[in-house]
Amino acid sequence: MPLGQRAGDKSDSRYCGVEVLDFPAGDGLPAVLTHSLSSAFDFLLAPLVDPDYRPTPGAVLPVAASDLVLSPSQWSSHIVGKISEWIDLDSEDEQLRLDSELTLKQEIAWATHLSLQACVIPPPKRSTCANYARVVNNILQGLTNMQLWLRIPLEKSESMDEDHDKVNNNNPTSETVDSWEWWNSFRLLCEHSSQLYVALDILSSLPSMNSLGRWFGEPVRAAILQTDAFLTNARGYPCLSKRHQTLLTGFFNHSVQVIISGRSNHNVSQVSEGVLSRDENHTEDTPTQHALSPYLDYMAYLYQRMDPLPEQERFEINYRDFLQSPLQPLMDNLEAQTYETFEKDTVKYTQYQRAIAKALVDKVSDDEVSTTRTVLMVVGAGRGPLVRASLQAAEETGRMLKVYAVEKNPNAVITLHSLIKLEGWESMVTIISSDMRCWDAPEKADILVSELLGSFGDNELSPECLDGAQRFLKPDGISIPSSYTSFIQPVTASKLHNDIKAHKDIAHFETAYVVKLHRVARLAPPQEVFSFAHPNFSPKATNQRYTKLQFELPQDTGSCLVHGMLYLPLDFYSVKLYIYHSNPTYPIILAGFAGYFDAVLYKDVHLGIEPNTCTPNMFSWFPIFFPLRKPIYVPSESPIEVHFWRCCGATKVWYEWALVAPSPSPIHNSNGRSYWVGL
Ligand SMILES: C[S@@+](CC[C@H](N)C(=O)[O-])C[C@H]1O[C@@H](n2cnc3c(N)ncnc32)[C@H](O)[C@@H]1O
Repeated sequence: MPLGQRAGDKSDSRYCGVEVLDFPAGDGLPAVLTHSLSSAFDFLLAPLVDPDYRPTPGAVLPVAASDLVLSPSQWSSHIVGKISEWIDLDSEDEQLRLDSELTLKQEIAWATHLSLQACVIPPPKRSTCANYARVVNNILQGLTNMQLWLRIPLEKSESMDEDHDKVNNNNPTSETVDSWEWWNSFRLLCEHSSQLYVALDILSSLPSMNSLGRWFGEPVRAAILQTDAFLTNARGYPCLSKRHQTLLTGFFNHSVQVIISGRSNHNVSQVSEGVLSRDENHTEDTPTQHALSPYLDYMAYLYQRMDPLPEQERFEINYRDFLQSPLQPLMDNLEAQTYETFEKDTVKYTQYQRAIAKALVDKVSDDEVSTTRTVLMVVGAGRGPLVRASLQAAEETGRMLKVYAVEKNPNAVITLHSLIKLEGWESMVTIISSDMRCWDAPEKADILVSELLGSFGDNELSPECLDGAQRFLKPDGISIPSSYTSFIQPVTASKLHNDIKAHKDIAHFETAYVVKLHRVARLAPPQEVFSFAHPNFSPKATNQRYTKLQFELPQDTGSCLVHGMLYLPLDFYSVKLYIYHSNPTYPIILAGFAGYFDAVLYKDVHLGIEPNTCTPNMFSWFPIFFPLRKPIYVPSESPIEVHFWRCCGATKVWYEWALVAPSPSPIHNSNGRSYWVGL
């Protein structure tokens, strides 16, 4: 039974499992499952084989239960296999190493036979885990459907949770560890396999929030929440510290499932109802409550307490981490469906209307309203929403307007004609079916309105189009937008990296994607890349650009792999707080760069998706993602230096990008060989 209903959220985080600690010998497993399901848990993390077993020639594997005791659908929907924890594939003891390898392979083979969706494999026993990773990598090559979840304790990197430590001093290690490093070396050895995931053990103490943030770009499938991590509230019930609550809420928002593990430390039901069995593997038929039910109830409370997904998030949910090719509105003709999506974004048109109204008032003083008619040209009018916004701005400000609607897509022009007729705008609006770059305008415009912006600002060739159109703008004319700027930030994004890798070619790693970023860790605040201002009558004007940027990682992040460019929100769903505090640093993985834009429409009216200043409730643009061919390990205290070029040829415009530090990458997309935008 899911943790509850959260409007719009259908992700796996609704399901909560429970770890079976004692080996359910005999036919105990069905009874444990029935008891757990009837206590509202959704699945078990259960041992598959007797932990006392060591491989013996000719011995039959002492499995927990025959494949017949549960139906195939019960095995696959309600059991996550737990591989024997004693295995140690990097032991100095050769016999133990060999036994471990054999056992791991036998247990995975059994789990595959049962059609389990996933098995949890134990954490590496030592920092050198090459042999373990080799065997797992070998197994992964042969798996088709099943996932392996590597269990990793969410170790603290530094003391950030002192109060909680005093209460629960059950992790007395004073050594500073960063278990992300274990995961990182393991997955590097396993070549970033797309079937290798993480199951994080959540303990009573937590690393710093910034260091935690790295995990949100990693393929975390489960959070195994130890009962020892719980505190006790005034009424004797289990509860979590504020930091644990924030972490768990972050996991819920990132489709991570919780598994409760450990012995019950809270006797609440026994106290209040006198029916609690403290044995969580209870097998009798009596309808006793599961010993871990109070913990499950608390999880359900946390889950249900979350705000419903905002309308926009619900609309965008199916696009999360889904890579899309950016539009090419200049080279291609957009389809009706695409225009329809644009037109639903009322926020965008409201901003344009505000900007146009301000420009009209600046152009025509109150004394001139009855004598002066402003010439406004909407260039790239599509099906007419900016024409409507312009006319509404004129009405609002009492200014007279003459509008030219210039559009090169003949299909959109058909719709424009019907709109003008339907609305009775014939006397005010002239439709021009032409490319703005070659239209011979009969008069010059006071105001040029366009929306040719891509997720990265200039990537749909607004600069090139407006250069062509400014010929018919008066010398004192206004362009709306008047300028726009692109931004990038480094990100960890293992899912995106794996999805691109699945194409098995370099070209896909040299392409920019439009993507609703979700499972990403944003590693540093965004920085400006390229800016364009309009009109630009300078004879030396060029649209080629070159920028180099240095990103200093917030100091308590830990190391990471950068897969692209983005940053870590501290509360994980509001994009307000990021990982830029200053304490000791740790390494990270860089997968690439997330890109955004911000546009000044006119004076103080702006519109954009740069996370710090983004226009609320606007959904026309998702960020853009520039991947790196190989995720880069960024050691502690090493700045990231990236170079970006905007290159212009006779028929196309393209970007090239390369890392210079901490280690050089190849120049991506040299000569626009993989990704370009057609002129
Ligand atoms: C992003 S859409 C915006 C459409 C509309 N203004 C809106 O907000 O819904 C850009 C429009 O500009 C048109 N366009 C792009 N380049 C153009 C050019 N060089 N000349 C005329 N129209 C162009 C495209 O066909 C498309 O209809």
